[in-house]
Amino acid sequence: MPRTLLVTTALPYANGPLHLGHILEGVLADIWVRYQRTRGADCLFLCADDAHGTAVMLKARELGISPEALIDEVRRDHQRDFRSFGIDFDHYHTTHSEENRRLVEACYGRLRDGGHLRRRSIVQNYDEDLGLFLPDRYIRGRCPRCGAEGQYGDNCEVCGSSYDATELRDPVSVLTGRPPGRRASEHLFVDLESLAAPLRAFVHGGAVPEAVAHKLDEWLTGRLNDWDITRDAPYFGFPVPGEADKYFYVWLDAPLGYLATLRSWATPERAEEIFERYWGRDSEAEIHHVIGKDIIYFHALFWPALLTVAGWRLPTRLSTHGFLTVRGLKMSKSRGTFVTARDAASALDPEAFRYYFAARAREGIDDLDLDPDELVARVNADLVGKVINIAARSVPFLDTDDGRPRTASACAAPDLYARALAAGDEIAEAYEGRDFARAVRTVLALADETNAFIAQSQPWVLRRDPSGHARAREIATLGVGVYRLLALYLGPILPGLRARSEAFLGIPLDRWSAPPPLLDHRLNPYRPLLERLPRPAAQGLFANGGPHRG
Ligand code: MSP
Ligand code: ZN
Repeated sequence: MPRTLLVTTALPYANGPLHLGHILEGVLADIWVRYQRTRGADCLFLCADDAHGTAVMLKARELGISPEALIDEVRRDHQRDFRSFGIDFDHYHTTHSEENRRLVEACYGRLRDGGHLRRRSIVQNYDEDLGLFLPDRYIRGRCPRCGAEGQYGDNCEVCGSSYDATELRDPVSVLTGRPPGRRASEHLFVDLESLAAPLRAFVHGGAVPEAVAHKLDEWLTGRLNDWDITRDAPYFGFPVPGEADKYFYVWLDAPLGYLATLRSWATPERAEEIFERYWGRDSEAEIHHVIGKDIIYFHALFWPALLTVAGWRLPTRLSTHGFLTVRGLKMSKSRGTFVTARDAASALDPEAFRYYFAARAREGIDDLDLDPDELVARVNADLVGKVINIAARSVPFLDTDDGRPRTASACAAPDLYARALAAGDEIAEAYEGRDFARAVRTVLALADETNAFIAQSQPWVLRRDPSGHARAREIATLGVGVYRLLALYLGPILPGLRARSEAFLGIPLDRWSAPPPLLDHRLNPYRPLLERLPRPAAQGLFANGGPHRG
């Protein structure tokens, strides 16, 4: 039985374009999916836009269009951007869908019938001019603990303390710059404490890395706060059945979007069967959510709580990553470190980013800093200079009759080839554990060894004398054979390079395998497999006021 896997990335908000941080997440997930497929796994890869919430509503107002029109347009752009980086979802849906509405209402019914809901009135900041309750991020003021100016309503970036938005001193609405009023309204809360036992079991059952489980214990050992799942009108979301002017909070319907996307991927006749196969209580499938460190809390507490109440299974694994920073700085528009996916893809070969992310990222919560000079150096020196170079420097020593180089019937250094084959297991293990950096390191070490062997054997010297021709061909045959393995090993990271290598080699590289050296094999004419990156394009992209930003 092949492994059955469902992999998701977090669902990006539909209020703006994708940036390179979203692409980092997509790339990490896509590499793993591609690797699993080379191993024969039945792997489904899903995503959707997270369409609801105040930010989408306000953005649409600002543009003078309906939220529906905004989310349709944004979704097209998001899909185009993911695709341009080779992030190849089987299906890309939206949380603003009929499938999702049904799931949300079903879940709500079970929360209510199971006695997990509480109702109480809370006081919130209210923008009198706009007639709007202000979410924490739409209010700024002085930190109630340290007095720092300009802090958001949820926590202070200076002293790190969290507080209630109504505690902020001298608050102003971010939208109007005026002090907000206060208003009371009734909200519905999920009693998370009543679900504490299954949550603890989930967090300590191997679904999250140990370090993350440890962090979550800070919440889990105390009493869990009730979770507010409703918002007042005006809001863009699903209305709460039987309640006037109340909507479900976007974070209630967003994760259910994973399920809605699966349902929408399945044909209507098979929707139930497929749903059960992945999310049924007895499902044998594995479910992997790839998420950034900022949303671990939602996925490790709220999400399993909802699934437990609804009677569905829990995810197998939350695969977390840190944040992408640019030259040590958070991505920010004002600092010129905010790079949209679109600008990045038009400035440089998108596979360069895939390679750089793979070579640098680690599962966990460490941030990954993008340094444009390092990106160029790694691609040019390592990938082009070492890996591609093996193929480029070998081909001239092979015979061609009809323009197609042919490998010899023996390969020099069978021991070296055997080591390259054996390394496949180590690389596979690294992929499985999402340690792509280790996979890349192992490939580069093999490339170094192979280049050293070729340099030392000097086929160009052997070639000067007819008696050395045969040996020069065998050296080149080793080179091409090892290149084939390296292209196979790097395939999940570099699908474009894989396709060009397949065309050059005339063999598929879509199955993880341990093939014998390529003997007496006709290649196709060699064309450069990968271009060097132009350094100025990389630097321009990250300079203040880079392309399209004036
Ligand atoms: N809509 C929610 C997710 C709902 S999932 C049911 C959301 N959207 S987001 O657009 O803000 O972020 C989407 C993903 O991108 C998250 O996993 C987030 O951690 C990740 N990233 C956002 N900025 C990032 C970086 N600068 N670097 C790396 N990942 C980042 O959260
Ligand atoms: Zn503070």
